[in-house]
Amino acid sequence: MSAPHVSAWWHESLDLESVNLKYGPRVDGIEPTRVFVIEHTKRPLGWIQWYLWSDYPEHAQQLGAEPASAGIDLAIGELAMTGLGLGPVAILEFLRQIVFAEPRVNAVITDPEENNLRSLHAFKKAGFTFANTVQLAGEHFQRRVVRTDRTGLDRT
Ligand SMILES: CC(C)(COP(=O)(O)OP(=O)(O)OC[C@H]1O[C@@H](n2cnc3c(N)ncnc32)[C@H](O)[C@@H]1OP(=O)(O)O)[C@@H](O)C(=O)NCCC(=O)NCCS
Repeated sequence: MSAPHVSAWWHESLDLESVNLKYGPRVDGIEPTRVFVIEHTKRPLGWIQWYLWSDYPEHAQQLGAEPASAGIDLAIGELAMTGLGLGPVAILEFLRQIVFAEPRVNAVITDPEENNLRSLHAFKKAGFTFANTVQLAGEHFQRRVVRTDRTGLDRT
């Protein structure tokens, strides 16, 4: 997470202690966000997480995310492994294997920064469509709301 190509998009403390404090409980399964390691040819490549937007109502309301939707975030940790098309594959596999395996989830909605063109391209390649643009409370930049629906995934 502290690699420059990742930390540029994470506006939080990324020293080991802060990361342990925030992500440790998720890894331990005692918080509603579920985190996973992305593996490629049996090598860890990055991480990916999902959550029900109903567990984060303040953020969800700003995105217009309905209660039966989920959010995801991901990062490929090694710069050399970005730009190879692995991100969209990881997103699609994660939706198929994990997120839409949860029957309550009808859609996946997330909010990359407007300037994170690589991320926006990756979500588009994974079948997401762009909805509105938002500026979250406490942030000074815009985010694009992107979404994909369970029925859309069935067609891919
Ligand atoms: C975002 C991320 C998951 C995308 O995965 P990836 O495997 O790198 O994605 P791809 O290789 O499919 O590249 C996505 C597209 O963006 C394009 N792209 C790459 N760098 C770009 C840039 N600086 N500006 C514009 N487009 C760019 C690529 O050309 C590709 O499009 P194409 O296939 O039509 O040519 C990955 O790059 C990453 O982890 N980045 C750092 C963390 C991050 O931004 N996470 C997302 C936060 S929401």
